[in-house]
Amino acid sequence: MNNKVAIIGLGYVGLPLAILCHQKGFDVTGIDIDQAKINSLSQGISYLADLSDGDVQEVVQSPKFKYATDFGKVNDVDTMIICVPTPLSAQSEPNLNYLHHAIERLMPHLKQNQLIVVESSTYPGTTEEVIKPKLEGNGWKVGHDLFLGYSPERIDPGNQLFSLENIPKVISGVTESCLDALTNVYQHIFRELVPVKSTRVAEMTKIVENTQRFINISFMNELSRISEKLDVDIWEVVTAASTKPYGFTPYFPGPGIGGHCIPVDPLYLKWKAEQLGVKTEFIDLAKKINDKQPDYIVERVSQVVKHDKAKLLTIGLTYKKDINDIRESASIPVFQRLVRSGYQVDYHDPFIENLEFNGHTHSNKPLSAPMLSDYDGVIILTDHSQVNYELIKKHAKLIFDTRNRFQEDSNTIYKL
Ligand SMILES: NC(=O)c1ccc[n+]([C@@H]2O[C@H](COP(=O)([O-])OP(=O)(O)OC[C@H]3O[C@@H](n4cnc5c(N)ncnc54)[C@H](O)[C@@H]3O)[C@@H](O)[C@H]2O)c1
Repeated sequence: MNNKVAIIGLGYVGLPLAILCHQKGFDVTGIDIDQAKINSLSQGISYLADLSDGDVQEVVQSPKFKYATDFGKVNDVDTMIICVPTPLSAQSEPNLNYLHHAIERLMPHLKQNQLIVVESSTYPGTTEEVIKPKLEGNGWKVGHDLFLGYSPERIDPGNQLFSLENIPKVISGVTESCLDALTNVYQHIFRELVPVKSTRVAEMTKIVENTQRFINISFMNELSRISEKLDVDIWEVVTAASTKPYGFTPYFPGPGIGGHCIPVDPLYLKWKAEQLGVKTEFIDLAKKINDKQPDYIVERVSQVVKHDKAKLLTIGLTYKKDINDIRESASIPVFQRLVRSGYQVDYHDPFIENLEFNGHTHSNKPLSAPMLSDYDGVIILTDHSQVNYELIKKHAKLIFDTRNRFQEDSNTIYKL
């Protein structure tokens, strides 16, 4: 097997993939432009909630695992896997700058027969229309002297049930020879490969997976508003509907949609569809509903806790439980809107030490009985496993629960 792999971008996607490749016997070179991440690795300190310092130390001590900011280190690798961010621009359009930058920095180090795989989420057409011409503009013939493929990453940070290796891996190549080259490498890393006919199909697969979550969660958020007026518990409804053995997939309401994927990927598709003259009405409506959700949460809280100077504690800032990622987290606008409404707001999140807002540094407040009883209300926004909910239940005056953590609606617990 071609046994030297470079992973470009060592974040939530790239670092676990680099570690998996190392476990599978590859010589791994990790490249990241963020010096702080490289320093962290050399000190054996993990920057991802899913990896312990011990996990990092084990791998960085290996002579078969190198990491650097210097792209020159990829000189002799067989395969380069790109896992850089694909965020939105200020205009909510695809920002492929990281991808462009990574390819440009790799360009001087390319050599005959290398395989380049893009794993970053992006709109259908990116690999063929953006990456391929960039490589061919530099004299390489894709499918002949260089191989190019796309394989979407499906990792779910914080999910202990599915390890990276066991998640079926969709793979694609720009040409058949590209797909063959990718299969030859990925069959040694992942248990199950799902080849598809084109890079476009693979790119669209990822976007569709995330867009269906985006739309269905927004639907649940709308249903939660209707259910409140009907005096119906939407959580109980969805749980009951889930007993149907076929045809129903449960989704739940919450403070909104967060993370680097679900709020972002549908807008990549929207942009591409608009380029083709097609409207994305489902995506537009879902975005509108989700964007309003933080206002809805704040409104529900302010109907109960009216005094401007009241003290509120939010639980969780990250976009979902048991991770340290606040990108696009809906908990942040809820926190910010509460502050702007005049409440004195603190947060407790074991994964987030500080939050800068309005020129002020807010710090994680450790939970205790006296501090909890000092707040007029506690709002559960992210339900991290390691938060002491028993303590909250015992000592908080009022609880607003957006995650059904307490599974009850009472005079002191408001299920939102
Ligand atoms: N986080 C997830 O759960 C998840 C899941 C599936 C897919 N994805 C997709 O995977 C891609 C990466 O996401 P992530 O969450 O790992 O992002 P991340 O920000 O955690 O990691 C990306 C890393 O790439 C580095 N980087 C940026 N530009 C670079 C360059 N030119 N060269 C080398 N390194 C560079 C950054 O410093 C960062 O460490 C995105 O397209 C995302 O949509 C993410």
